[in-house]
Amino acid sequence: MKRLTVPAIQRRKFEGKTAEPLVMLTAYTARQAQLLDPHCDMLLVGDSLGQVIYGLPSTLAVTLDMMCAHGAAVVRGSYHSVVVVDMPFGSYEASPQQAFASASRIMAETGAAAVKLEGGQVMAETIAFLSQRGIPVMAHVGLTPQAVNALGGYGARGKSQEEHAKIMADARAVAQAGAFALVLEGVMEELAVAITDSVDVPVIGIGASAHCDGQVLVTEDMLGMFERVPRFVKRFDNIAQTITSAAERYAADVRARSFPTEEQVYRPKK
Ligand code: KIV
Ligand code: NA
Repeated sequence: MKRLTVPAIQRRKFEGKTAEPLVMLTAYTARQAQLLDPHCDMLLVGDSLGQVIYGLPSTLAVTLDMMCAHGAAVVRGSYHSVVVVDMPFGSYEASPQQAFASASRIMAETGAAAVKLEGGQVMAETIAFLSQRGIPVMAHVGLTPQAVNALGGYGARGKSQEEHAKIMADARAVAQAGAFALVLEGVMEELAVAITDSVDVPVIGIGASAHCDGQVLVTEDMLGMFERVPRFVKRFDNIAQTITSAAERYAADVRARSFPTEEQVYRPKK
């Protein structure tokens, strides 16, 4: 199977009302990517890895080094999905030039097909700058976790008329600037429907609406790795319980000297 391309993803928007929604999940490691890849159209190396793998309190301390290391692992572990790597906080906001330097490093070191960055109207110039220079950009509007300090939390956006209008303008601006797709996170459903119907690039929802052109979730969230997850997460499994139970049985076997058994030890051949 050949790897999907950014233009093929973008075209899905124009395949009409019957178009199959785009499937996207996060991946941070090669093995995780290998397992998810056949089922996805896109894999996102999200800066959510800050919380999920590194135990950080937010995404703000995630570095370009981290994104490059995990991005390269996910590209190595996949052969079908378009791999998109998040640009970390502080690596792109200052200027289009700063963004180009960071994005080109991500592209060169990981082999990913695209980068993602947070922000609407204010990032439009940067999105145009990158996409005109050969770097496909996925935008991210609505609830933008890198702005948690300005937003005051991770609550849903678009509740007031003003916020609704602002997020609609953000979505239009990033599509107009040349983003090949956009992530729409944590917004009122009505706004998600309106945005999906009014921009000409695929809208990938997370806490948005089934009406979006695709969906994304943090894989560990949907696997049930965490006790507390946002309202918009559906848990498709309970991997925390699986790991806990395996660790319990391993510990009991070790303490009882019932592991390893003869099947797991080396002995001279008879
Ligand atoms: O970092 C991330 O995982 C994301 C998705 C939740 C969209 O940005
Ligand atoms: Na992110």
